[in-house]
Amino acid sequence: MQEFNFPNWVNKLFLVVLAAAVVFGGYFSNMIFFLIHPDVINVGHRPTQPVPFSHQLHAGQLKMDCRYCHNTVEVAGHAAIPPTATCGNCHGGDRVVAGRTLAVVHQESPLLAPVRSSLETAKEKPPGSAPDSVDWVKVHDMPDFVYFNHSAHINRGVSCVSCHGRVDQMVVVEQAKTLSMKFCLDCHRNPEPHLRDPNLVTDLEFKIGPEHPQVVVDKEGKEHRFEDQESYGAFWRKELGINPNVNCSTCHR
Ligand code: HEC
Ligand code: HEC
Ligand code: HEC
Ligand code: HEC
Ligand code: HEC
Repeated sequence: MQEFNFPNWVNKLFLVVLAAAVVFGGYFSNMIFFLIHPDVINVGHRPTQPVPFSHQLHAGQLKMDCRYCHNTVEVAGHAAIPPTATCGNCHGGDRVVAGRTLAVVHQESPLLAPVRSSLETAKEKPPGSAPDSVDWVKVHDMPDFVYFNHSAHINRGVSCVSCHGRVDQMVVVEQAKTLSMKFCLDCHRNPEPHLRDPNLVTDLEFKIGPEHPQVVVDKEGKEHRFEDQESYGAFWRKELGINPNVNCSTCHR
């Protein structure tokens, strides 16, 4: 039987098909990646921390206000992660201030060893140097081409819960929302469902309804009673003159 030989051009065709498969395969998998991407980015991202600090315990059970530790949220773009000295107020142990021994909660706990050693190094540093902190691992991380600002939201009655979920119920903090461009724009286009009294933004349990009416005194001293988010949000939008921007340059500058 005579051997069948493919003509020479078949070799070339094979290469062309292979090249096309590589190029288009890459193209389509990228397309699919970017199509899915905005909905899944980093949701649930939950790095392991050097100290098992629990928000559920400190912010939930002990009812500590978010601003006790994240004390710059109202005044700065960035929400500060607390220095170890803040933890030392309760877990410092050996420090004596004005004759009072501070902070004896779980003084011996091995879980708090990094906190204690950080407090020790802080003592040895020259005064005026940057405060010592535990090496916390970042949970949220926006790309650098996005401009975000905490105080612009906190002072306008947008609660932490809108963007971070129920942190007060989290033993380990995780990213609760996509924080994608669509996520930002959905609220900038229609903020009312998320607006409230700026004094209540750190109350993550906030409720409104017939059983949980919100009573507000406006600038003129007139009292208003609200039982639904729609009219309550609309009130705050008007009261504070809120008009979120959707221009590209608001978030990409
Ligand atoms: C006792 C201090 C303390 C209090 C109170 C506190 N936090 Fe934190 N928070 C921390 C520390 C420490 C970290 C860094 C370690 C970690 O991620 O668990 C952190 C991390 C976070 C992060 C993740 C930051 C990142 O890396 O992206 C968010 C979001 C957050 N806190 C929100 C809140 C909110 C909302 C509240 C109020 C309900 C609150 N925190 C109350 C100490 C505190
Ligand atoms: C206002 C006081 C207060 C501050 C400030 C505070 N804690 Fe606590 N923390 C407590 C109390 C109270 C407990 C113990 C609750 C219990 O065991 O019932 C605790 C428990 C803990 C535990 C569990 C210890 C164990 O062995 O079970 C860790 C870890 C911890 N805190 C870390 C931190 C870190 C890190 C900071 C600073 C970001 C901090 N805490 C700030 C009051 C505080
Ligand atoms: C409108 C959405 C939004 C609101 C409201 C909001 N955050 Fe954030 N938060 C973000 C985004 C986005 C990041 C990531 C910023 C980055 O990586 O540059 C972030 C990051 C953080 C961080 C990490 C440090 C930092 O600045 O990157 C902490 C801590 C934090 N938020 C705490 C809070 C607390 C506490 C509140 C309420 C008082 C709050 N946030 C309200 C969107 C929000
Ligand atoms: C839950 C609602 C909500 C979400 C989500 C939200 N924003 Fe906003 N944003 C607002 C409101 C309300 C304002 C205040 C508008 C005003 O003052 O008129 C604002 C203001 C801003 C400003 C300030 C603009 C200025 O004039 O300085 C920036 C920047 C911004 N948002 C960026 C973002 C980014 C980036 C995201 C997504 C990571 C985001 N926002 C998500 C509601 C939201
Ligand atoms: C309210 C804030 C906000 C506004 C307004 C905004 N963006 Fe974005 N944009 C974001 C955020 C947040 C991301 C990052 C999402 C992520 O992490 O992937 C982003 C990402 C992007 C990207 C990168 C591709 C991607 O989807 O990840 C491009 C391109 C972009 N924006 C273009 C624009 C243009 C053009 C406009 C004006 C029509 C605009 N943006 C308006 C918040 C905004």
